[in-house]
Amino acid sequence: MRKRLGILTAGGDCPGLNAVIRAVVRRALEDDAEVIGVKNGWRGLAEGDVEPLTRASVTGILPRGGTILGTSRLNPLDSPQTLDRVKRNWSKFGLEALIVVGGEGSLAAAYDIWRDHNFPIVGIPKTIDNDIRGTDFTFGFDTAVGVVTDAVDRLHSTAESHHRVMVVEVMGRHTGWIAAYGGIAGGADVVLVPERPFRLSRVCELLKHRENQGRAFSIIVVAEDAKPHPDEDFLTGDVREQIYRHDRLGGIGTVLGGEIEACTGIETRVTKLGYVQRGGTPSAFDRVLATRLGVKAFEMAQAGEFGCMAALQGNKIVSFPLKEAVSELKRLDDEIYKVAEVFFG
Ligand code: F6P
Repeated sequence: MRKRLGILTAGGDCPGLNAVIRAVVRRALEDDAEVIGVKNGWRGLAEGDVEPLTRASVTGILPRGGTILGTSRLNPLDSPQTLDRVKRNWSKFGLEALIVVGGEGSLAAAYDIWRDHNFPIVGIPKTIDNDIRGTDFTFGFDTAVGVVTDAVDRLHSTAESHHRVMVVEVMGRHTGWIAAYGGIAGGADVVLVPERPFRLSRVCELLKHRENQGRAFSIIVVAEDAKPHPDEDFLTGDVREQIYRHDRLGGIGTVLGGEIEACTGIETRVTKLGYVQRGGTPSAFDRVLATRLGVKAFEMAQAGEFGCMAALQGNKIVSFPLKEAVSELKRLDDEIYKVAEVFFG
């Protein structure tokens, strides 16, 4: 009998998901195993929405953004009825293992389902945020940093022409990886991240210093969850609630831009990069990483290495326990932030 395993993509999409799906299918074909594509994350298993993935289904998808399987944020553990439906469909489709390609939330759910309900699951970390422990990088991150870098490059020329401050708000949820890497690569003059609450007075001081030195334009990259230091908080309760919503962050750039203009007198504009950071074709790095992780995850499933995820450590792809991966977020490395800081002001 041919071995049969499922694959689903869950949580926010990111560039490289199709490269992973292709890699799992192509590696499975080598072993004459069958891959069932589960549609829209766990929802597909709850609703019985699946499709067998053949060589033809993955042809031409390597450079495509998004995910051919669709995605959702449904957590099967949110209701006993959903979990029952998932269990029934699991048996109906005869799955012997499931590869869950997910970010921090989806991998945490995958870990719980493996631990508490014995589902044979192998994880693959994906997210533009790069916030998952146990892997040096997640695929999607490099592409997102490329988008930020390109945007900062473009903003430089217009900022310089108009002698303006440009505030660029980037994604990253609760960590500052995208902001720090994008800021370093784009040559930002200030980078603000959630890991380091910032002082407005210090930011304005740096901008004024630049102006006094004859550099009458500046670029500030701010992560969506960056917060003012409590000693210098300029956010009212309502505004704070609007910006730091549990399910959706965004808006600190606009408020910060207003504060900067008021305190420095320098004309300031704000750009929120938003979902363009997540869309489009994956970079070569992300394609290679996603492909390597996909091949490894299939091999882990074949070897019965469940409750673990494929991960990049150094230049090796290894197996890493989901328990540790989801125990806490991988915060921005201090060393990286210090490098960004060298170029402040
Ligand atoms: O986790 C990826 C990410 O793009 C974050 O950077 C961002 O905060 C969040 O997803 C946005 O989520 P949604 O797609 O639910 O709006």
